[in-house]
Amino acid sequence: MITTSGLTKVYQSRGREVTALDGVDLHVREGEVFGVIGQSGAGKSSLIRCVNLLERPTTGTVSVGGVDLTALAGRGRRASRELREARSRIGMVFQHFNLLSSRTVRGNVELPLEILGVSGRERSRKALELLDLVGLADKAKAYPAQLSGGQKQRVGIARALAGDPKVLLSDEATSALDPETTRSVLQLLRDLNQQLGLTVLLITHEMDVVKSVCDSAALMKKGRVVESGTVAELLATPGSELAAELFPVSGAATGPDRTVVDVTFHGDAATRPVVSQLARTYNIDISILGAAMDTVAGRQIGRMRIELPGRYEDNVVPVGFLREQGLQVDVVDADAEVEADTDAVRDTETAALVKDGAK
Ligand SMILES: Nc1ncnc2c1ncn2[C@@H]1O[C@H](COP(=O)(O)OP(=O)(O)O)[C@@H](O)[C@H]1O
Ligand SMILES: [Mg+2]
Repeated sequence: MITTSGLTKVYQSRGREVTALDGVDLHVREGEVFGVIGQSGAGKSSLIRCVNLLERPTTGTVSVGGVDLTALAGRGRRASRELREARSRIGMVFQHFNLLSSRTVRGNVELPLEILGVSGRERSRKALELLDLVGLADKAKAYPAQLSGGQKQRVGIARALAGDPKVLLSDEATSALDPETTRSVLQLLRDLNQQLGLTVLLITHEMDVVKSVCDSAALMKKGRVVESGTVAELLATPGSELAAELFPVSGAATGPDRTVVDVTFHGDAATRPVVSQLARTYNIDISILGAAMDTVAGRQIGRMRIELPGRYEDNVVPVGFLREQGLQVDVVDADAEVEADTDAVRDTETAALVKDGAK
């Protein structure tokens, strides 16, 4: 639905060049919620502003819904009609809501419809319908100053939906909200994604946001995408920084000559007694160093850090046993890591192939 290739953005700032985007290839599939995460200054806002061409990329292309936006002429107020039309199919939600304080809630939602030249009666009908959709039907006549932060953001979302967009972009839409309100606004985005088949590209610096609503995610650093994939793929990628942050487990080896492995359980594997089977089958003592269960991308996932006696070379067979059970096994022991990683990458690739084949 959204594809960027070789996207770069260089700003000229006081005679100096600032590279905000340094070759970004991103692919967001139709109907998914895609989260871009990264620290301040990583280039997240530049990316989203290039996706709807609020900012013209320095090089590279952006296509949304099959239309190459970078090929359409104009910029800013002088955008061509084609570009303006394409852009009206992309909704945008901002961190600080950007509502007009002199207009009522309904007036704010009607604004983009006025720009699109929709008649007064139709505007009002559409605005009320959208306010109903975001749960604010009774606030149509209120002014922004009379609303809570969460309500303001709901107005921002209703306004973003005015042009019947296929794509919704959100730049830190929940960063100014308290945790409770954040949850309800995220739930709204998720509902809209499902009810309207809306593709959502959201930017955040909060891992919890990715965990609760995203199907896929990308990690940005210094203008580059350093990791991306579906949340399930990321969790199945050894050494993935996003996976480790989405799902941290900790615990250090209790002594030398021990093998520490992280075992990730997806779906029904979570309920099978694999650890006791492992202990019985190979007659070894297993220590559990850390464990966590959580719901990520709507799926139950468990991760456990366990310790086996002996070095990695002594544990190739038990580790293989765990993998045969369909579990993902990442060896934490530094010495053995490289070797184990290559195995696991191969496993992941195989799993991906099997999954694709099954579709
Ligand atoms: N309009 C601008 N002019 C000059 N530099 C900018 C401009 N916008 C962003 N930058 C710089 O580009 C880099 C990326 O910024 P930004 O895309 O806002 O990152 P993020 O949203 O991840 O915090 C930063 O170094 C920032 O200072
Ligand atoms: Mg930003």
